[in-house]
Amino acid sequence: MNILVIFCHPSKKSYTFQILEQIKAEIYKQKHSVKVSDLYEMNFQSDMTEQEYEREAFSNFDNEIPNDVKIEHEKLDWANSVIFLYPVWWSNCPAKLKGWFDRVYSVGYAYKNISGIKKMKKFNYGAVICTAGYSNSQLNEMGIAQSMKTIMLKDKLGDRFNNKKMFILGGTLDINGVKDNHAEVIANIIKEMSATSPNRVDGSASN
Ligand SMILES: Cc1cc2nc3c(=O)[nH]c(=O)nc-3n(C[C@H](O)[C@H](O)[C@H](O)COP(=O)(O)O)c2cc1C
Repeated sequence: MNILVIFCHPSKKSYTFQILEQIKAEIYKQKHSVKVSDLYEMNFQSDMTEQEYEREAFSNFDNEIPNDVKIEHEKLDWANSVIFLYPVWWSNCPAKLKGWFDRVYSVGYAYKNISGIKKMKKFNYGAVICTAGYSNSQLNEMGIAQSMKTIMLKDKLGDRFNNKKMFILGGTLDINGVKDNHAEVIANIIKEMSATSPNRVDGSASN
């Protein structure tokens, strides 16, 4: 299975980066292939340009899709499953990841059917994994966990993914109290992804 990780954190000293390393190790262990879009390392542009906006809003298809967006489309075309990994900042994803959705989910590709424009494939599995300072129970009590799930799973992943789940790795203010549990969650996510893969190595796949 081909897994694309959209990773959004500015620092390799971060806990979220450690989670990325764990995800990659699990993916290799289970003999899948992985590509990472490291948005900060790529210096991915999060702002939509005027030309991109006019392509989206006024169906001005003479405005070409920019190269950096085309590259993301190619990676998505390669992948069967996608993982979005980021820290929760102000109850949301970092602006750079929001900008990735704004620009990469372009008209005709991610939404609307437009003749002559290649449509985004339907993915097998989408996992949204975010680290959070608050504990999971605090985020649930405040209703923030539910609102983050609604926005990410219902809107951003939507029916583009056959299976989709959000995993909040909360409580990072007390890292030693949560990291073993988080490592277990990560291992299970990749196992679950493998189990739902149409290309399972056990040969029971249908296509
Ligand atoms: C700008 C900023 C905003 C944050 N906002 C939230 C928040 O709204 N809710 C929350 O639970 N944690 C919040 N945090 C804590 C991060 O989620 C936490 O630091 C991260 O998940 C794990 O740390 P890392 O940056 O080492 O990867 C915020 C952190 C920063 C830097």
